[in-house]
Amino acid sequence: MRLVENLKWRYATKKFDSGKIVSEQDLDYLKEAVQLSVSSYGLQLYKVLIIEDKALRARLKEVSWGQSQVTEASHLFVFCNFSEHKEERIDDYINNIVKTQQIPISEVQGYGDFIKESLSQKNESEWQSWSKRQTYLSLANLLSACAELKIDACPMEGFDPKAYNEILGLDKRGLNASVIATVGYRSEKDATQYRKKVRKTMEELFETV
Ligand SMILES: Cc1cc2nc3c(=O)[nH]c(=O)nc-3n(C[C@H](O)[C@H](O)[C@H](O)COP(=O)(O)O)c2cc1C
Repeated sequence: MRLVENLKWRYATKKFDSGKIVSEQDLDYLKEAVQLSVSSYGLQLYKVLIIEDKALRARLKEVSWGQSQVTEASHLFVFCNFSEHKEERIDDYINNIVKTQQIPISEVQGYGDFIKESLSQKNESEWQSWSKRQTYLSLANLLSACAELKIDACPMEGFDPKAYNEILGLDKRGLNASVIATVGYRSEKDATQYRKKVRKTMEELFETV
């Protein structure tokens, strides 16, 4: 029941208390929740930037529809998917399995070939859309982990990815800002927290066949 209680507690925070900072220990827990996220084949085709720098965040706010969360929250997470498909990432993953699980490469080579074959069937735009979707799974874990620690968060798509890519130098690194989340503590003045959660009814949402 605890997860559902936490999910009822959380809300997309509009106004953060800029004086409250998430501790290193809590930040490590959030990072671990992101690290443990599921991903297709287990490839984790993304990188997550955690931005503390205030000046940088002031620049990012300008290209985030002016949303104050970007500067007022304790931390800004930028989920970046890889912008291009590269087979060497599959090799890296296979080598990681071999190293982590101490097994001979022959046991997983077939799996690597299967991933390569299956991903080679996606065109560039399909691949990009798919790699972006992976980041949303880790975003969801971040939000749940935040709720567990009673840390507030706001998932955000209200920003200009191209401008983020330029400001953060992501283009040069083959990365693309896909979705962001601000993390910190709610301000008492944030009226949103006092509103009732709006969701579809169970009947509207589910169908049992
Ligand atoms: C991918 C995604 C992007 C979102 N973008 C923004 C945003 O840019 N700004 C914002 O204030 N809220 C944003 N939201 C928050 C949603 O509006 C919010 O989650 C939804 O209305 C449900 O409310 P709740 O999260 O408070 O329960 C976003 C949510 C998601 C999942």
